[in-house]
Amino acid sequence: PYGWYREMRENEPVRYDPGRNSWDVFRYADVKRILNDDATFSVDPEKATDFVEPEGEGEGLILDTMLFEDPPRHDDLRGVVEDSFRPRAIRELEPRIRELTREILDDALEGEGEMDLVSEFAYPLPVVVIAELLGVPVEDRDRFKEWSDAIVSSASDDEGGAEFAERQQEVQREMGFYFLQLIEERRENPRDDLISTIATAEIDGEPLPREEVLGTCILLLVAGNITTTNLITNAVRCFGENDLFGTYTDAGAVPTPAIEETLRYRAPVQAMTRIATEDVTVGGETIGAGDRVIAWMGSANRDDRQFPEGDSFVPDRSPNQHLGFGHGTHYCLGAPLARLEAEVALSELFDRLAGVEFADARLQPTRSSFIYGVESLPLRYSV
Ligand code: HEM
Repeated sequence: PYGWYREMRENEPVRYDPGRNSWDVFRYADVKRILNDDATFSVDPEKATDFVEPEGEGEGLILDTMLFEDPPRHDDLRGVVEDSFRPRAIRELEPRIRELTREILDDALEGEGEMDLVSEFAYPLPVVVIAELLGVPVEDRDRFKEWSDAIVSSASDDEGGAEFAERQQEVQREMGFYFLQLIEERRENPRDDLISTIATAEIDGEPLPREEVLGTCILLLVAGNITTTNLITNAVRCFGENDLFGTYTDAGAVPTPAIEETLRYRAPVQAMTRIATEDVTVGGETIGAGDRVIAWMGSANRDDRQFPEGDSFVPDRSPNQHLGFGHGTHYCLGAPLARLEAEVALSELFDRLAGVEFADARLQPTRSSFIYGVESLPLRYSV
């Protein structure tokens, strides 16, 4: 998409797209302004003039969450889990994440010189980590992973057929039912896990309604999986293309700025949607109340007005105020966790592998315009 972004930033930085019935915004300053102003640019899809109620139960599981609520409800819901995701709390997870990473890597390395980085390494890791944090019992992990797979296939598929949609609904129902049981159980006997935290939370002395408890659990499950998978994979692509594999093996650790630069250069989430709550002018264009606005942070991240040589990968770029985790009120809750997982995963990977190379130059991008990554990344390596 990057050639297109560049062209749009220069020629039509704010434009109406009749096909999607929405506005596209491409420049850094405009994107940041939109994310900063949640009174004018709401996350609530129901505020759109052309909003249609999703059909069927289960469809809207994550509509009742912080991601689609404006303040003040947003702040209350986010407050329920915020402490668990603070950098200090997350740092304590490092030894366990390293252990899980090594287990997954051991399995992946059984391929004797070849592996698919996505399916064998970058995908399983975040699923296992979040399952453990939530408190999903070990014996249910396989079922749990099947649901994640199904949800991921929906996230990367823009227009599946009717059969596909039906299967999705079934998965959502099954998963919802499963979580509700777990939630009830933890309400009675809370443990030291996220499901317990959410199930026993109170806002202004009132327990959370069931839909919000369930929605929050499911949001935590889905928000961090394909995104973290793609961060790890996109980083390996960036490092390979810039001849950095050897560098990081010697150092034994992948430096933070290189991960930040990946979040800028190949952001796993390329765009976010908002609804204008009043008529508002952006870049000389008037966006009407109730219009949908797509803030292209994948483009903002390449804007030369903010990043010198925006289309070059500079592993030690500083400063680097990228929008890879969003900005403002909805800034990614899981950012500290995603950063830690990526740092541990990449460092362990390069520590174990020598002579890494891409085994297949043909890359199949994920089938979604908002999620950026590849479906698979075959590697050849020696140990
Ligand atoms: C929000 C990206 C990992 C949980 C967001 C947003 C972005 C983002 C761009 C803002 C959405 C918006 O403004 O509409 C990413 C990327 C990740 C990642 C690129 C990995 C590299 C995670 C993880 C978790 C997580 C691991 C949790 C386990 C959330 C939640 C929100 C969010 C709960 C909503 C926050 C709110 O509305 O206040 N993420 N995310 N994310 N993310 Fe992440």
